[in-house]
Amino acid sequence: MSDITDLIFEDHTWFREQFAVLDDLRATRTTTQAGTAELERVWRPLADRLDVHAVAEEEIFYPQLLRVGEDPEDETLDAIGDHNDIRDGVRDAENVDVGSDEWWAAVDRARLANDEHRAEEEREGLANFRRTAPSGLREALGRRFAAYFAEHPSRATVDTSDKDPEEYVEANEDTGSSAGPERTPEAGGLGIGSLKGQ
Ligand SMILES: [Fe+2]
Ligand SMILES: [Fe+2]
Repeated sequence: MSDITDLIFEDHTWFREQFAVLDDLRATRTTTQAGTAELERVWRPLADRLDVHAVAEEEIFYPQLLRVGEDPEDETLDAIGDHNDIRDGVRDAENVDVGSDEWWAAVDRARLANDEHRAEEEREGLANFRRTAPSGLREALGRRFAAYFAEHPSRATVDTSDKDPEEYVEANEDTGSSAGPERTPEAGGLGIGSLKGQ
């Protein structure tokens, strides 16, 4: 399965599960050294995936939503703003000691921003794309989305700085995508034949 909307859903489910694992740890063992190591073991991949997921959507999904979606501008503006809120929480957590009160507060901010955003993204951008994007495009983008995580196993290699939502929409509205097969002339219009079978 490589439909990009399915892959995004899978990540969203995983995020929810990992925050729930942190709830268990919070109840039992946050003060010992072993407890802190356990928190780090759950948080490290979660923080990485939250940031890489947002950037992957910005590089691969939202440019295509802007291209083929129905009235996608407001949904995209909201999404980029939400991604900034998630990034802020993750960044704050990265700057303090794991397991400290400040860390939990930052993790909670990232979780709240992510929960709110996830529901909205599923209801808006993803639903829009399912209605409007041909299956060949969804599959081709899914393969690129999966490959992106292989290329970026951690947040260290992606740009985690906040983006201006309006600048983002303006920059991506007419260009489709920053790189990749979607920029071919065939994909510039709605003829996405070149994407099929990739
Ligand atoms: Fe997402
Ligand atoms: Fe998102």
